[in-house]
Amino acid sequence: MANTILVGAQWGDEGKGKIIDFLTEKADIVVRSQGGNNAGHTVICGSTKYVLHLIPSGILRAGKACVIGNGVVIDPVALCSEIEGLREKGVEVGANLFISDCAHLVFPYHKVLDEHRDLKKGSGKIGTTKRGIGPAYGDKAARTGMRMSDLVQPELFSSKLKARLEENNSILKALGEERIDFGEVNAAYLRAGALLAPMVTNTVVYLHQALKEGREVLFEGAQGTFLDLDHGTYPYVTSSNTTAGGACTGSGVPPHRMDRVLGVMKAYTTRVGEGPFPTENEAFGGRLHAMGREFGATTGRARRCGWFDAVATRYSAMINGIDELAVTNLDGLDQLDSISICTAYTNRGRTLEVPPSDARQLAECEPVYMEMPGWKSSTEDARKFGDLPPDARNYLEKIVSLTGAKLGIVSVGAHRDQTIVL
Ligand code: IMP
Ligand code: MG
Repeated sequence: MANTILVGAQWGDEGKGKIIDFLTEKADIVVRSQGGNNAGHTVICGSTKYVLHLIPSGILRAGKACVIGNGVVIDPVALCSEIEGLREKGVEVGANLFISDCAHLVFPYHKVLDEHRDLKKGSGKIGTTKRGIGPAYGDKAARTGMRMSDLVQPELFSSKLKARLEENNSILKALGEERIDFGEVNAAYLRAGALLAPMVTNTVVYLHQALKEGREVLFEGAQGTFLDLDHGTYPYVTSSNTTAGGACTGSGVPPHRMDRVLGVMKAYTTRVGEGPFPTENEAFGGRLHAMGREFGATTGRARRCGWFDAVATRYSAMINGIDELAVTNLDGLDQLDSISICTAYTNRGRTLEVPPSDARQLAECEPVYMEMPGWKSSTEDARKFGDLPPDARNYLEKIVSLTGAKLGIVSVGAHRDQTIVL
């Protein structure tokens, strides 16, 4: 496998965890380069279900190295409990995990501010995961953040934390929130720091050395294209660059070392949190929820659901330079009589082929649909493209051709073997 950037082509939760796990077999190193524990990647191996938040899904395969890159924001206490949880399930986490010394830290005040700001927005709220991601990246951009390199130097860490808490406690006080106790945070973070210290390193040097040795790297994207801070449906986005370019800045591996971009998308569309979603359809969502599908891995929230949106995914293919697509959750459509595909939007008397950048205008857009017949049978046991019912193949060929990329993988269930490679 060449060096691959894997991105979510929609609003996150495209089923990236499973595809990453599948591709990891051929990779040597798996890298997370953005986001934090707002992400939730679900991977099912045999009868065990794993939900990963900060650690690359590659950890589940023995002999693979995993990197948490400089572009990630880390809640070190949450990372330690994720490591503990994996170890309890018999997964080795230790010398196979490398954590960037430049990755920024998420603190309890980030979480309080995240929640406070979102609630204050009322009906304009973003619906964040309340993990403190936005405020942590805010501190990074404002150059008031603290990094993993601080965490592993206890004296330096404590003095910086004291100063940061002084400022943040006065903000919290003004907002009517409870103050955060230095002693408690300091102790918990230093405990986490001691546990993580052996894994903290300059991951840029590690990755470049590995590339020099010819090892192959998989960059695992978190969230999805329309949650990208620059290219998504701002302000209803997350605070990192979820698109392909984020893999370079978030890891220190330059663009010319990347060989291909794989976009992961669902055979339909989902979104969690607030923000525009032109093809949203409650009746369709109700059917998926009744099947026990589409509940969030991080927050348990029922995801909003809608039809496949070719306008959005075409744009996503362009931004990311998607060479190949992995289409997941095809089996979610198995029982439908007819399936809608959005091919364009209409807005203010015009037909649009590209999503408007303004979230309010995007929210006004009316989808233009074409209908395709459903296949009304289970695709879960298909292992080759030819095993799929003809109407399912037609549907896949249609959505992929509308997106302008090549079909590489189809997923028909959560298990490793429910994967069709073209
Ligand atoms: P934040 O990343 O917690 O700030 O949340 C901002 C927006 O991104 C909210 O709409 C979240 O629901 C959404 N979001 C964040 N992480 C994920 C994810 O991993 N999957 C899907 N949506 C996400
Ligand atoms: Mg998820």
